[in-house]
Amino acid sequence: MRTKESLLDIAALRADTPGCEKVVHFNNAGCGLLARPVLRAMVDHLDLEAAIGGYEASAAMAEQVRDFYAAIADLISCRPENIAFAGSATHAYTKALSAITFDADDVILTTRNDFISNQIAFMALRKRFGVRVVHAPDHPDGSGVDVDAMAALMRELRPRLVAVTHVPTNSGLVQPIAEVGRHCRELDLLYLVDACQSVGQYPIDVEEIGCDLLTATCRKFLRGPRGSGFLYVSDRVLREGYEPLFIDMYGARWVEADRYQPVDTAARFEEWEFPYSTLLGCAAAARYALAVGLEPISLRTPALAARLRDRLAAIPGVRTLDRGPSPAALVTFEVERWRPQPFKQAMDERGINSALSFREFAQYDFADKDVEWALRLSPHYYNTEEEVDRVAAAVAELTRS
Ligand SMILES: Cc1ncc(COP(=O)(O)O)c(C=O)c1O
Repeated sequence: MRTKESLLDIAALRADTPGCEKVVHFNNAGCGLLARPVLRAMVDHLDLEAAIGGYEASAAMAEQVRDFYAAIADLISCRPENIAFAGSATHAYTKALSAITFDADDVILTTRNDFISNQIAFMALRKRFGVRVVHAPDHPDGSGVDVDAMAALMRELRPRLVAVTHVPTNSGLVQPIAEVGRHCRELDLLYLVDACQSVGQYPIDVEEIGCDLLTATCRKFLRGPRGSGFLYVSDRVLREGYEPLFIDMYGARWVEADRYQPVDTAARFEEWEFPYSTLLGCAAAARYALAVGLEPISLRTPALAARLRDRLAAIPGVRTLDRGPSPAALVTFEVERWRPQPFKQAMDERGINSALSFREFAQYDFADKDVEWALRLSPHYYNTEEEVDRVAAAVAELTRS
């Protein structure tokens, strides 16, 4: 039987990706390789800015600029009016947090696998406003957060915010965000999802997740440029008047001398100035991912990672660390007798791009796994089975040396 995954023309997709000729890029969880149309959209816009002026160039490209919102909306199943551009996933996340009026003793209910910067932001809110940060326990079967236990905490604590990272930076764990979302909807709780590692890797549907706010970068599995991200803001949140703490002349209108009025759409979370070539690159990346197809991508990408995980698990001295029934394309492992930087450098020297994770990126998860550092390998659909085997062979050679 032909699977959807086998419908991908990998040779053509690789020919469309200049970086494939140069490196074995297994750092898509850091930053994906740009496809040619993405690169072209950005360079063309810079050329236009140089030729006719920056303001004039963005005016000339108004339709394509609007398509950023439409393309991201198509990607996550919402309306363009629900999307705000951001300079990074963290920028989007902190803007979203800044819209919530926290009082002392309000509870933020999160998980042990939420992203490092989100955890730091929660602690910063605790320091400033006296909120309580509560971590729901993990399920003993290793499948991520225990949804029933989290739901019980929701009922008991009535948190001001529930926050879950879909796929953490430090492992392939896929958190049950839609199950958590169902409880949030039932109890009418504000729900923020960090989908930084999953947008571009899986189909994402904000209605199905039941989230109020969702953040992501464009540079990772979506294969957009660096310095970009977005925030999804639900109609409900817009209607209820949430606005970022610092709203500017783009997000609001100064209607009377002592009054401003936030705009109706998620644009209230944006600022007046945009890196237009980056934004156009993101639009091209989202359209590219939609054309390739999120479903075939979501079949092939984790499958390549599973092949790699299997190969690595068979190497003496290697301990793979990812948990959960169907891990994402982030393969993390620990290697006996090596220090982190020399190991990564040895991979670099073999033309293999990878990334390091340290205990401080994941205090709960790495403590549970009793690990100080891990190498992270993150393939994408344009990588090949041969590359996977080459990478596994390189790790085997290094562990023997
Ligand atoms: C799960 C997760 N959330 C958020 C971020 C932060 O993204 P950014 O660097 O765009 O702020 C990352 C980055 O690695 C991530 O992996």
